[in-house]
Amino acid sequence: MARSRTTYRCRECGRQTPHQLGRCPACGEFNTMETFVAAPPTRAGRPQTNIEAAQASRLADIPAADEERLPIPIGELSRVLGGGLVPGSVTLLGGEPGIGKSTLLTQLAGALSATLGRVLYVSGEESLRQLSMRARRLGLGLNGSQDPLYLLAETQLERILATVDELDPTLLIIDSIQTAHSDAVNSAPGMIGQIRECAGQLQGRAKAGALSVLLVGHVTKEGSIAGPRVLEHIVDTVLYLEGDPFQTFRLLRSVKNRFGATSEVGVFEMSATGLVEVANPSEAFLQERAANAPGSAIAVLMEGTRPLLVELQALTSRSAFSHPRRTPNGLDLNRLLMLCAVLQVRANLPLQEQDVFVNVVGGLRIREPAADLATALALASSIHDQPLPSDMVCIGELGLSGELRSVGQLDARLAEAAQVGFRRAIVPRRRRGGNPPPAGLSLVEVRDLRGAIAAFAASSS
Ligand code: TYD
Ligand code: MG
Repeated sequence: MARSRTTYRCRECGRQTPHQLGRCPACGEFNTMETFVAAPPTRAGRPQTNIEAAQASRLADIPAADEERLPIPIGELSRVLGGGLVPGSVTLLGGEPGIGKSTLLTQLAGALSATLGRVLYVSGEESLRQLSMRARRLGLGLNGSQDPLYLLAETQLERILATVDELDPTLLIIDSIQTAHSDAVNSAPGMIGQIRECAGQLQGRAKAGALSVLLVGHVTKEGSIAGPRVLEHIVDTVLYLEGDPFQTFRLLRSVKNRFGATSEVGVFEMSATGLVEVANPSEAFLQERAANAPGSAIAVLMEGTRPLLVELQALTSRSAFSHPRRTPNGLDLNRLLMLCAVLQVRANLPLQEQDVFVNVVGGLRIREPAADLATALALASSIHDQPLPSDMVCIGELGLSGELRSVGQLDARLAEAAQVGFRRAIVPRRRRGGNPPPAGLSLVEVRDLRGAIAAFAASSS
């Protein structure tokens, strides 16, 4: 007879091993391997009896219906979700502590309860008093409003589901999935088994009716949603709220969406009365820019399908050390090291004795190489103590031999720059037949870094 086998499973990533290990070979975490009793294996190849075949459907027989969506009055959130909340879907919202997840979802709960009907907000982290204080601070429940927003401080899943049965809400918010625990599994809250079980049960409940579920997920120091990657597989949509806690801007990013495009981004600003949508992020990110300051350059990033203008600031100062410092803020260190080397070797910029600091204004994190040229020109501008023209944007990726490479969606970037009021753009030399630049914007096409620095020196003299 087949016996059940004891194996070990990582509570962080779910990797199974036949032996107890101190460190998980998959995710590298220490002391995360837990005993796991696998079900006895079935003998393959044996004819199985008493099993009815499931009925498959022909594609043509399935009615083509667009996903029905619940309209969300918060435009930026609605866009990131692909145009609203899909009934019966499960959405995961991840983010660092204190970034504003509870604030955003409380605002959403308030807005939806006013338009759609019952919303149940369950918190396992805060007391009813704290929840209601936050809600009132956000302007909900004032004027004796009768909006059906219900709050519940509870962690036990079965009780939460019983409340859902009783209230029958349109939207259920669980803040957070790491605090929920079910009696069906015998492990502590936050462990992989618990999270998987709770998310699975909530998923089942969502799919059974038209209940939309929003889960809050904590993020580990490495930046992924704590515990289980498996959670990302179970849910329909994964959103991340990110930003620098000391800055006011917050970016809401979708990394998985079964009902829409991913890599959509919504921009918010944290204010005394909660998260406020930023309708024109490019202008917001540039609002504190000092004109004619050396070491400042404007890059045009693409966040999803959306162009975004940001200011890059660089400062170079004579180093007191034999190994000068390179300090990026909002930029990858290795990228900065590479750019410094390219500037040094290909454009003879004397950076070897200089400490280098680069800052992305507004707390944004740059992930794409299209900001290379802006970073390099900000550094050149700082070391020559000569400001770049204030009506100029810099777009382009730098290669190791100092060549300027083209970037995706150049037309969208240029249109945004023109719309915000910029007049000139340094761009990589384009192939013949490119679209003409938008009205009011002239292009300075350059082949390499030297050309870009020469163009900048010529235009500001
Ligand atoms: P919170 O939503 O509790 O973060 P999370 O749930 O992601 O841990 O909010 C965190 C911060 O936001 C908190 O430090 C206070 C600030 N905040 C405001 O600035 N304005 C507001 O209106 C609210 C509700 C919070
Ligand atoms: Mg919270």
